[in-house]
Amino acid sequence: MGAPLSAELSSAVEFPDVTVLGIETTCDETSVGIVRAGRRLLANVVASQTDLHRRFGGVVPEVAARAHVDLLEPVIREALDRAGMTLSDVDAVAVASGPGLAGALVVGVSAAKALGVALDVPVVAVNHLEGHIFAVFLEFLDFAPPAVALIVSGGHTMLVEISSMGNYRLLGQTLDDAVGEAFDKVARLLGYGFPGGPPIDRAAKKGDPETLRLPRPMIDQCYDFSMSGLKTAVVTALDDLARRGVTVKREDVAASFQEATVDVQVEKLVRAARDTGAPSVLVCGGVAANSRLRERLERRCEEEGLRLYMPSPSLCTDNGAMIASAGAHVLLRSGPSPEDFVADPSLKAPLVASVSAAGQ
Ligand code: KG4
Ligand code: ZN
Repeated sequence: MGAPLSAELSSAVEFPDVTVLGIETTCDETSVGIVRAGRRLLANVVASQTDLHRRFGGVVPEVAARAHVDLLEPVIREALDRAGMTLSDVDAVAVASGPGLAGALVVGVSAAKALGVALDVPVVAVNHLEGHIFAVFLEFLDFAPPAVALIVSGGHTMLVEISSMGNYRLLGQTLDDAVGEAFDKVARLLGYGFPGGPPIDRAAKKGDPETLRLPRPMIDQCYDFSMSGLKTAVVTALDDLARRGVTVKREDVAASFQEATVDVQVEKLVRAARDTGAPSVLVCGGVAANSRLRERLERRCEEEGLRLYMPSPSLCTDNGAMIASAGAHVLLRSGPSPEDFVADPSLKAPLVASVSAAGQ
């Protein structure tokens, strides 16, 4: 593992000495983080809406957007309180402007712009996926490119070569379901709640991963992922067992499914590092909170001589602090975003925010 962040903040990747308030409203977490000089975490408040969406078995976009409207102001206040600051201490506002749910993004972008005008400070648009990468700077002083990042979340699965911060090459991505989405779908199948990653993670600890023989889709080929076939294989295996009158514990199914996804993620990440010659690997996004993935990566990276960087689980799932850290760097390399930038629900590669105005 990389060295933890110490009080001394000089490092290989430089950030401007500004206090950034970061807003995250891309999906179902309303979050605000306050970060100084890109690395020093002063506050990170996350209001999760999972209770609101659970009864629908997934995130309902309209419900999410309304909840962001209700929650964002109190979350901003709470973040300032925890940081012991007032709005006048904020030097810049960063906001995740996409990819994400259109209505949810508009709430964050509108709030960021309003704050920018009211405080007379710059506003920077941040690509949510680049934000996930920047979570590493909140905990590790020595992380520096070149590196390969595995970004695994509910909506995205990507292998990215980082040659410098802001300079990314997409090596591969999912051709169908994201890894987190596969966790959520298999969890629903097994009768676990939403989101599905945490209950599967817990259940798998009590299960036998050898119970179901599941495929490891495209494990030795390319850098792309295919997760929907794996989910279908779980369904087929369960149908087959039921037909033969064999019952299996759902913990065993959870463990078998989780092990297959972990095998694929670990192998592809290690192969990408080997092929690109990157000495470091980074794993981020909600699925990077998975305990089995973390355990297996630690072991494998040690064997391979790779430096492994894994933000703490609370910084892997969506949060405003990672947006604030990325915002500081975007401010340094590109300056403030144009006043008329808009929310951008679709992904733009490379992982930098699109700042085109409406209609362009
Ligand atoms: O990054 P994130 O918070 O939101 C998106 O940008 O999508 O990721 C959410 C995803 C969900 O699919 C959730 O089930 C998954 O991350 N997740 C996990 C774990 N914790 C969250 N998956 C596996 N194991 C976990 N412990
Ligand atoms: Zn995310």
